[in-house]
Amino acid sequence: MKASPKGRTLVAPQAHAEVAALLGERARRRDLLIEHLHLIQDRYHGLSVQHLVALAAELKLAPAEVFEVASFYHHFDIVREGESPPPALTVRVCTSLSCAMAGARELQAALAGMAGVRIASAPCVGRCHGAPVAVVGRNAIEHADAAGVAAAVARGEVEAQLPACIDLAAYRAAGGYATLAACAGGLLAAESLLQAMEHAGLRGLGGAGFPAGRKWRIVRAEPAPRLMAVNIDEGEPGTFKDRWWLERDPHRCLEGMLIAAQVVGVEKIYVYLRDEYAACRALLARELAALAADPPCALPEIELRRGAGAYICGEESAMIESIEGRRGMPRLRPPYVAQAGLFGRPTLEHNLETLVWVRDIVERGPDWFAGHGRRGRKGLRSFSVSGRVARPGVYIAPAGISARELIAEYCGGMLPGHELYAYLPGGASGGILPAALADQALDFDTLAEHGCFIGSAAIIVLSQHDRARDAAQSMMEFFADESCGQCTPCRVGTAKAAALLREPKWNQPLLEDLAQAMADASICGLGQAAPNPVRSVMRFFAREIG
Ligand SMILES: Cc1cc2nc3c(=O)[nH]c(=O)nc-3n(C[C@H](O)[C@H](O)[C@H](O)COP(=O)(O)O)c2cc1C
Ligand code: SF4
Repeated sequence: MKASPKGRTLVAPQAHAEVAALLGERARRRDLLIEHLHLIQDRYHGLSVQHLVALAAELKLAPAEVFEVASFYHHFDIVREGESPPPALTVRVCTSLSCAMAGARELQAALAGMAGVRIASAPCVGRCHGAPVAVVGRNAIEHADAAGVAAAVARGEVEAQLPACIDLAAYRAAGGYATLAACAGGLLAAESLLQAMEHAGLRGLGGAGFPAGRKWRIVRAEPAPRLMAVNIDEGEPGTFKDRWWLERDPHRCLEGMLIAAQVVGVEKIYVYLRDEYAACRALLARELAALAADPPCALPEIELRRGAGAYICGEESAMIESIEGRRGMPRLRPPYVAQAGLFGRPTLEHNLETLVWVRDIVERGPDWFAGHGRRGRKGLRSFSVSGRVARPGVYIAPAGISARELIAEYCGGMLPGHELYAYLPGGASGGILPAALADQALDFDTLAEHGCFIGSAAIIVLSQHDRARDAAQSMMEFFADESCGQCTPCRVGTAKAAALLREPKWNQPLLEDLAQAMADASICGLGQAAPNPVRSVMRFFAREIG
């Protein structure tokens, strides 16, 4: 008699019992696969093959499906037969551009060999104002040095520190949730709220800039049940505004989310938060529980989901795949997520900051929002500024402000000894501009003639001590690591370009061919935008590349 069906590994009884105990009363749903993988990873510091097979049995999935999902995400460590799990504690040193400029590689070298700890590089962890950053377990240390990290390890400071925020009581005391209640009670008609968003000119602040009011109308016109996905993946290097808002004023974000859900007629909301934001996760879980215990009106169901270290899951359709418990691979469109998104249902997907502005637009009026702006642009933006400025941070500034003004008026100027040489207007994807173009309006569409875009408004400032080619190389290596691998122009193109950029003299014709193929033939924005920094260097900084 066979012990297991053909093609399936026998489920080890002990591993099965361990997984069943960890899952407890939790639902055995396929879409919860990543949540369940986190439970095992957190408890055992790795995912043994036996545990993966046992989880597959619990969820009634093929082990191959569980294995392919687990191996897709950077934060899961698969431990094969005969291997030992990694040390219980991992220190991740952010090596993205802003941290690299502040000495991350040197920090990593100084930490190498620390006993009993795994030292790993991490792509941007969303704290670029505090560069260099090291994350000890879940405890993010800003302006990190080797001594500080060693002390945190020795003291066992491995958990996230919860920031003080405006909690539910304080938010309510200042008039919070009155607008949501008015909306739910019919005092504010959906049509007037739709018009307010349209007149304010609120655009999606996750990067693409799609008009929010128009998106609400499109999803609202689709048949029920409708779902909503809130995108707090915030993986674009240089971007930390969503974390900034969440840590300070979580209910402003939640009220905007609930107003949008009310207007569009959403049945259930999924909030997808990147794994690196452990403090935000604890804070959100606490504040969502407080809200559910004392709601201002009937609330839709809200589920908080934890990413697992994959930049591509910020792309809206990849995020949907991830929420459904799969690898974060972008979907081909059409159909658009507004028509067939989560579980095949019409889905309203928004960046967190887009939702932050909803309450103010309703209460202060669309003209208040549209009344801000410079150079003919309209609205407010939360700029994440990092690099060689005196005071890096998140600054709420008018749309259309220039990089030179942002640095002078908000960031206290450049760091002593540094002069503006170049800047990245939109994180890794938005290209690189020289100081000569630092008076351009920073907003959607304004930088297109220079081959750049503002995206999530992550401004990384370089000085005469930096080289644009190093920035482009760092970004291409990031894209090569983060490409989901689904389409050839991006999977092969990013790796090939990263290799070509390591040459002292760039092969410009070949790089341009590659850039064109990636931009034209990649499925999603990652592959399409990946060549932007390289093209900027060839256009504006040719002297650097031989
Ligand atoms: C590679 C890639 C990564 C993205 N990452 C994020 C992200 O981390 N956060 C986000 O809100 N949007 C991100 N986006 C944009 C989303 O696809 C989508 O446009 C956005 O969530 C829609 O919300 P909005 O209209 O409020 O901006 C990304 C897009 C691409 C192509
Ligand atoms: S462009 Fe890159 S990230 Fe996007 S689907 Fe293709 S391989 Fe995946």
